[in-house]
This record gives sequence, structure tokens and C-alpha cells, in this order.
Amino acid sequence: MTTLSALVVDDDADFRESMALLVEREGFVVRQADSVGTARALLAKAPADIVLIDLSLPDGDGLELARDEGAALAAFVVITGNASVDSAVDALRRGALDYLTKPVDQPRLQSVLAHVSRAAALRAEVASLRGELRELGRFGPLIGRSKAMQEVYDLIARVAPTEASVLVLGESGTGKELVAETIHSQSRRKARPFVAVNCGAISPTLIESELFGHERGSFTGADRRRQGFFEQADGGTLFLDEITEMPLELQVKLLRVLEARAVTRVGSTEAIPVDVRVVSASNRNPKQAVEAGSLREDLLYRLNVFPIHLPPLRERGDDVVVLAEHFLAALNRREATDKRWSDAALLRLRELPWPGNVRELRNVVERAAIMTDHVIAAEDLPVPEGETAARPAEPDGALRVNVGTSISEVERELILATLEQLAGDKKRAAEVLGISLKTLYNRLAVYGAAAARG
Ligand SMILES: Nc1ncnc2c1ncn2[C@@H]1O[C@H](COP(=O)(O)OP(=O)(O)OP(=O)(O)O)[C@@H](O)[C@H]1O
Ligand SMILES: [Mg+2]
Repeated sequence: MTTLSALVVDDDADFRESMALLVEREGFVVRQADSVGTARALLAKAPADIVLIDLSLPDGDGLELARDEGAALAAFVVITGNASVDSAVDALRRGALDYLTKPVDQPRLQSVLAHVSRAAALRAEVASLRGELRELGRFGPLIGRSKAMQEVYDLIARVAPTEASVLVLGESGTGKELVAETIHSQSRRKARPFVAVNCGAISPTLIESELFGHERGSFTGADRRRQGFFEQADGGTLFLDEITEMPLELQVKLLRVLEARAVTRVGSTEAIPVDVRVVSASNRNPKQAVEAGSLREDLLYRLNVFPIHLPPLRERGDDVVVLAEHFLAALNRREATDKRWSDAALLRLRELPWPGNVRELRNVVERAAIMTDHVIAAEDLPVPEGETAARPAEPDGALRVNVGTSISEVERELILATLEQLAGDKKRAAEVLGISLKTLYNRLAVYGAAAARG
């Protein structure tokens, strides 16, 4: 393996020397700089695999280095004499791997450096893998060869080997969880657990103990001690789904756990160290959730170090056909059948709007396959919008919305109107709305509570 290089930037010569020694001991070739200017000059000569930056330097703020266009900052860690939450958040927002306070905690520094070397090894492995799979129009379990998806594959390949927190955004059914699993399986954590938690589906009273665990007798029903999801995911990846649905007070606790890398079980005071990489997801716009006050901004910065936007299926061109062939082939294997698509059916697949994205497509394929003995015809598929034969169960009522209405109000109106149209069939309503049944129940509980108060 090639030797990795580090650059230590600090104007305190003693501190710098001792840091350089520590980093050298971990097998890095170390250069030193005492100012932003010197660091720039050194990086221009040769990039470094990791830069350790003091925040306050004689000629400026160390973070300026992270801002430099083209400065090959593969990874950097911020070191501060006085840790303020603001500067830490700012550093993470700019993509710092971590921030350390003086005096530097040695084990933490070692673990950061270990990540850097493992990441370099994995990057090489993933790069070769990427080349091979791309030819086949897939990336791990992800199918599709559209440009939009190729860009997603690139992002996954880049971020998977790092320790960065990833936020996967996209409409319902676009494959956010599958992306999270792919990131895990291409990371150094792949041999350790992948634990998925749907923040919108756990009752607010239980979610704290579900995440952090509890001691026996800590609340009614806690008849034995239990590990939370964080402990279960130790060494692996924790997937936090629907993060905008998490109760606010829990967001505070979650932030604390992420900062401290330790959990405290409900009913205990002991902090248990956990080593977890967090990948989170949402099908809502998290910035709007912040504006609406349902998501803490500092938590969003923590989780959103590296965003990945999954395009809706209707923006993936022919991927719909590639996916349909893939799903049908899988069904043929499972059922030992030999069904196939007619050209007309494939054409119709391309015309449909797919509000439920890949999940909806998979369901439509399965249904069509069941309804057909051999060749799937266009008639076996739903009818595109605007054509006459309306699907009987589809809601056809219009909703009038005035400009100036808030998104959450529109959402509420839409959910209630859809339910009414479907005679209260929640399962069907959730499908039509493209949200999970659990989310629908949660929303209704909120509206119910509001109605009871009002
Ligand atoms: N690119 C893809 N290739 C193959 N299968 C896919 C792809 N994207 C999604 N799927 C499949 O579609 C289904 C939905 O994917 P997933 O659960 O990851 O979506 P999601 O974005 O998390 O949805 P939601 O917002 O409703 O939770 C799964 O069965 C998944 O395996
Ligand atoms: Mg999901």
C-alpha cells in the first residue's frame, strides 16, 4: 500500500511538533505549516491525504483552507483551543471529518487517522468495482443506467469508504433505503450490522429507549435491560429513516449522542461508547422542515455532511424499462415461469408518471405478471393520466389551494380529501399519496390531537 501524507497546520511550534510525531507514528509522512499561507503553498506543491488545521492562525481562519477552490483537501480535521458549538458546526458543515479540542485526545486522533488509511484502500477497491458494474447498468443492488443514476453511483462510490454522515433525499419509493444499504456494503463497516430505524413509525414515547436502550425497570413494561439500535449497530451503520418525523426533544438527545459518540440508556447515567456511522433519509425537504420548526438546524448539519438526491423515476429515462425487465426476470426465476413484455407494454411503462417511483413500478410489474399467462400487453398496465378509462378506485376530486397556504396545511387537506374520496381506506390512501401507512397514521394522530385541542 502506498504511504499516506498528512499536513499539520498550527502556529504553536511545540504543539505542532508533538502532533506531527503522533501522526507519524500512525504511518503518515508529515509536513508542517505555521500559517494559512504556508499551508497553501505546501498543498499547491503536493496534496495531502489528511490536513489537520488549527482554527485560529496568525494570517487568518484555518477553515479558509477548506474554502479554497481546487485545494486538494481530500480530508481534513479541525483542531481548536476553545471549542464553541458554532465553530464545530461550521467545521462539519464545511466537510471536516471531525474536530478535536486541545489537548488532543489520542485515541480519537488515532481512530480518525485509521479511517483515513482504510478509506484510501477502499477507494481503490471501489473504483475498480465501479468501472465493471457501470457497464452492466447497475451498481451493487441498484439497477439503472440513466445519467441521473450514474451520478448517484458516483456519489455513493465517493462517500461509501469515508466516515461522513450521508443524507439521502428523494420521493417515496425512489430507493433511499437501498442506497443506504449500498453505502454500508461498500464501506469498511460492511462486516458489521446495518440497522434501519423508521423514526416516523416508532411511538414517540418508546423511541428514546428504542434508539438508546434502557435498563431494567426504568419504566413500566421495561422488564429487562435492552440494547438500543445504536448499540446494536456498533461498528456498523445506523439508517435513520424519515428524520423529519422525529420528536424535537429526541433530536436534542440524538445530537448529543452523535457529538459524544456514546449513548446513555434510559434509566442509567453510564455513557456507553458507540462507533456508528449514520445514514439518514427523508422524502421531505429538510430545509423546509427546519423552517417549519420540526427539524433542528444543528442536527440537520450533523446529518447532512454529504447529501445524495435520488431522482424520481420519471426523470430516469429508459431506466423504467431496464427496471421492469429486471423485476420480471426476478419473478420468472421465483415462479419458474417465462413471461415477457410486449413492445406496447414497454411503451406504456415509459408514459406512466410513477408517483410511487420504483416501488410502484415493482408492484405494477408483479400484478401484471400475475394477470398474464405469457406476454404482458399494454392493457395489463394502468392507463396513463389524461386517457379516458379512468381507474375506478383513483380519487378524481380536485383540491382547491390558495397561494399563501402553508405546505403543511396543503398536506393536511390533501391527506384528508384523499381519505374521504377513498371511503376511509387508509391502505389505499397511503399508496395513492405515496407515503407509508405508518406515516399516514402518524399524520392522522397529529390532526386528531389538533382537532381535539381546537
Ligand atoms: N435503483 C433500484 N434498483 C432496483 N430496485 C430498486 C431501486 N430503487 C428502489 N428499488 C426497490 O424499490 C423498492 C423501494 O425502495 P426503497 O424502500 O429503498 O425506497 P425509499 O425511497 O426508501 O421509499 P420510502 O420513501 O417510501 O421509504 C424496494 O423494493 C427496492 O428494493
Ligand atoms: Mg424508505
